[in-house]
Amino acid sequence: MKVSVIGTGYVGLVTGTCLAETGNNVLCVDIDKKKVDKMKKGVVPIYEPHLDVLFQRNIKAKRLNFSTSLKEGVEHGDIIFLALPTPEDGDGSADLSYVLGCASDIGKLLKCYKVIVDKSTVPVGTAERVCEVISSHTDVEFDVVSNPEFLREGFAVDDFLKPERIVIGSSSQKAIELMEKLYKPFVRSGNPIIIMDEKSAELTKYAANSFLATKITFMNEIANFCEKVGADVDKVRAGMGTDSRIGKRFLFPGIGYGGSCFPKDVKALYKSGKDLGYEFDILNAVIKVNDIQKKILIPRIETYFNNDIKGKTFAIWGLAFKPETDDIREAPALYIIEALLSKGANVQVFDPEAMPNVKLKFGNQILYALNKDEATVNADALIICTEWSLFRTPDFDKLKTSLNQPVIFDGRNLYDIKEMQQEGFYYSSIGRETKGK
Ligand code: UDX
Repeated sequence: MKVSVIGTGYVGLVTGTCLAETGNNVLCVDIDKKKVDKMKKGVVPIYEPHLDVLFQRNIKAKRLNFSTSLKEGVEHGDIIFLALPTPEDGDGSADLSYVLGCASDIGKLLKCYKVIVDKSTVPVGTAERVCEVISSHTDVEFDVVSNPEFLREGFAVDDFLKPERIVIGSSSQKAIELMEKLYKPFVRSGNPIIIMDEKSAELTKYAANSFLATKITFMNEIANFCEKVGADVDKVRAGMGTDSRIGKRFLFPGIGYGGSCFPKDVKALYKSGKDLGYEFDILNAVIKVNDIQKKILIPRIETYFNNDIKGKTFAIWGLAFKPETDDIREAPALYIIEALLSKGANVQVFDPEAMPNVKLKFGNQILYALNKDEATVNADALIICTEWSLFRTPDFDKLKTSLNQPVIFDGRNLYDIKEMQQEGFYYSSIGRETKGK
């Protein structure tokens, strides 16, 4: 099939590349000429595991092409995916200007039947609005389908190639059949393609992400309470997670959820409720608790240093909002760095992938180490913000020599508390007893 993907961010690029992998002829369109030129030369503009191999293979096979021309995109694809940004606008709603602007341009360019697919996370009713905008420019037949993505950064290729489900929101049999044909190779295992109306599909995405954010936030509150009563959240988590109604995943407490999806989607769902006179109390609480959780280590650090961290040096391991990505959007590490700098502390950081992005934000206000060991040299404490595998088994003796004092604030619960006590560290983690003095 001929497919166009408009927008080559994480979602667009993974969608385009994976659809080319099953033999479709894909044209990816982006307005950023520099990016398009790079991609034409075979350079993947983002870090996403396994994407590179598929990207090169499909470019070589001439199934994956790039252009800056929306006109070419509209002419090429029988199915046209809109994978455009829907950033948070000033009041927490999703900003639809990219999606609707593109819909308007597509309307002007349409010459024959096409299926336009909303792949971006968009508020309920957007498919309807996209349809109205296109219709206002053309009499040509077309359908608008809502097909939300459930891709996790770091696992996006795998999630696309082996999805647990595919959601297609459409009321047109013709569009549904085309979409089913396109996705059939990805669900040979028997996982379902769930067909529903456009609005339910749009809400499914928000509901799924908000539920997961709520699940994590609930565990973060349980972790905070564990510390008050002297319980161990790891044990509570194991005890709860084995109940199949709860499930083991997304029960890991930490310093809050971040990324490009959860924070934005929870706020957008809350805001759409409010706009309709519905108060999502639970989402309001999730937003509030997560904001506090992101900075939960700061008061602990201050207490440890007798409320005087001015001039102290902190090493930070992990800057990305989670491992296996260079994405720092809404990353807890950023909030921690900001708080430390505002209190006059020095910060030296290391992350295997996210350093260039952090450099763009903090410039020379902080020190960028070449590796994890260099980051800890002469630091008064180590703070762990992202659970990269690289940080899981450090040489503790080396770490003790490197740090001015053996102090770790672990926002991701990487180490065993007893082992840390034996190693002689002051070790503060989330929802577990603090060890050492
Ligand atoms: C998420 C959804 O999982 C995906 O389906 C959707 O399409 C996009 O948003 P992503 O943002 O890439 O994916 O990351 P995910 O792995 O879901 O993690 C989100 C955040 O939750 C991260 O900050 C992570 O550290 C945090 N998290 C996750 C926890 O704090 N605890 C957990 O147990 C799981």
